[in-house]
Formats: sequence, C-alpha cells, structure tokens
Amino acid sequence: MSRVALVTGGTRGIGAAISIALKEAGHKVAANYAGNDEKAKAFESETGIPVFKWDVSNYASCADGVAAVEAALGPVDILVNNAGITRDAMFHKMTPDQWLEVINTNLNGVFNMTHLVWTGMRDRNFGRVITISSINGQKGQMGQVNYSASKAGDLGLTKALAQEGAAKGITVNAVCPGYIATEMVKAIPEKVLNERIIPQIPVGRLGEPEEIGRIVTFLASDDAGFITGSTISANGGQFFV
Ligand code: CAA
Repeated sequence: MSRVALVTGGTRGIGAAISIALKEAGHKVAANYAGNDEKAKAFESETGIPVFKWDVSNYASCADGVAAVEAALGPVDILVNNAGITRDAMFHKMTPDQWLEVINTNLNGVFNMTHLVWTGMRDRNFGRVITISSINGQKGQMGQVNYSASKAGDLGLTKALAQEGAAKGITVNAVCPGYIATEMVKAIPEKVLNERIIPQIPVGRLGEPEEIGRIVTFLASDDAGFITGSTISANGGQFFV
C-alpha cells in the first residue's frame, strides 16, 4: 500500500538510501535536509524525491516543515527519524556546545518530529515511526559520550512511545546501524577506522546504506504490524544485545 513517508536527513548517506528504498516500495516520499543545498538539489533531480529544508533541532522549524510536506504530499503515515550529527571528542576535551548540538539534533530532533506527526497518526489509527539510532547508543563509544547518550536516549523514547502507540495502530521501532560506509564514518581518522574499528567487525567490512534502507522499508510495511518497541541491530556482528 502506498503511503506518505518523511525521512529526516533524507538526502545523504543512510537517509538517502532509506528515501530511495521507500520510494521503490511504492511510497510517496519527502526528504528533509538541513544544510547542503547543492547535494539536496542533486538528490531531488536524480531521484524525483522532493526535498524540504529545515533544522530538526528547532521545534518551530519542524512545525513549518511538516506543514509544507503535508500540503504537498498529504498526512505523514511513516516518519523516519534519521537526521543525526557527530561532534566526536574525548570527554575531557568535549565542549558544552559539542554536547548540546548533538543532543539537540539526535535526541530532541526525534522528539520534535515525532511529536508533530503523532496526533495525526493517532487520529487516523495508523502510523510508523522508525528512528535510526546506532550501535554506539547500545554499547557506548569512546570519543562519543554526546552521541552515545543521544542514541541511547532514542532507544528509551522508542520503547516508551511504542507502548503509547500500540492501541492506536502506530508502531515505533529503532534501527541500530553499525559502521556504515557514509561520509560520517569516512570522517573518522583513517588510522582509527582501519586499525581499530574495521577489525572489530566480524564480517570484515563496513555496512552499505542500502542494507539499512531495506530494514526500514520492512518496518514501514503492513507486514511489520506486530513489531513495535523493537531495536533491530545491523552491525556485521560487532555487538550483540
Ligand atoms: N575504537 C577504538 N579505539 C579508538 C576509537 C574507536 N572508535 N576512536 C579512538 N580510538 C583510540 C585511538 O586509536 C587512540 O588510541 P592510541 O592512543 O592507542 O593510538 C585513542 O583512542 C585516542 O584517539 P586519538 O589519538 O584519535 O585522539 P584524539 O583526541 O585526536 O581524537 C577522537 C579522539 C575524536 C575520538 C578520534 O579518535 C575519533 O574520531 N575516533 C572515532 C570515534 C568513533 O568511533 N566515532 C564514530 C563515528 S561514526 C558514527 O558515529 C556512526 C555510527 O552511528 C556508528
């Protein structure tokens, strides 16, 4: 069944793969982005997926953005909270700004976006909320106290909200990717990536964004109606919960 899907951070990396996978599954997709106009416009012309610019960390901007998407495509049935940032630093060097920026985008952004589509989903007795957390929200990661805290927060939000949505036909799930071949991971110092991280991945490679896109498409489908409050890990065997 074709539904309206909104993917935050949906024009690059894992988010782009999710947007494309949802479109290929027959959904009407809107892709949000925050900063890179050039990449977003190129994505729009290559895929035919409309792009909408706002910052998920700002509630008022999210409200305007959701209204624009709904005016263009209709009510949002599937929300994919994918937008996320890193500001990696060892804790003793981490600034309060690095802490806040990450929490505001990765955790408060999920609150903002989900809150704005939730009432509509309840009214229509259907919804899919899928949040992209991280392996590092499950296991913690040195250099990422801010990011690990935000992504662990996303898992708590998911489990609590799933209980509220269940009686209203809304499923709320999280996906925890491991290290996926995106710009975010390629920004890790090469020595750290090659000598420390890849050897920790039993399958011996980074994941592909499309591997996450397929999980999200399944969770968004009617077939996944009995799955809620779950965390799906896709990390090449790096960490078992
Ligand atoms: N795994 C294992 N060891 C790591 C590590 C990691 N992810 N990150 C850093 N280290 C080790 C380094 O190898 C180094 O060890 P040695 O002193 O023995 O060489 C030590 O920690 C300190 O690292 P640096 O010398 O690089 O210290 P720094 O202060 O210059 O930089 C840092 C610290 C900013 C944390 C930098 O090391 C870094 O960016 N590390 C990567 C952190 C990381 O894994 N980020 C994940 C980004 S991808 C992502 O977030 C997506 C997702 O959801 C998975």
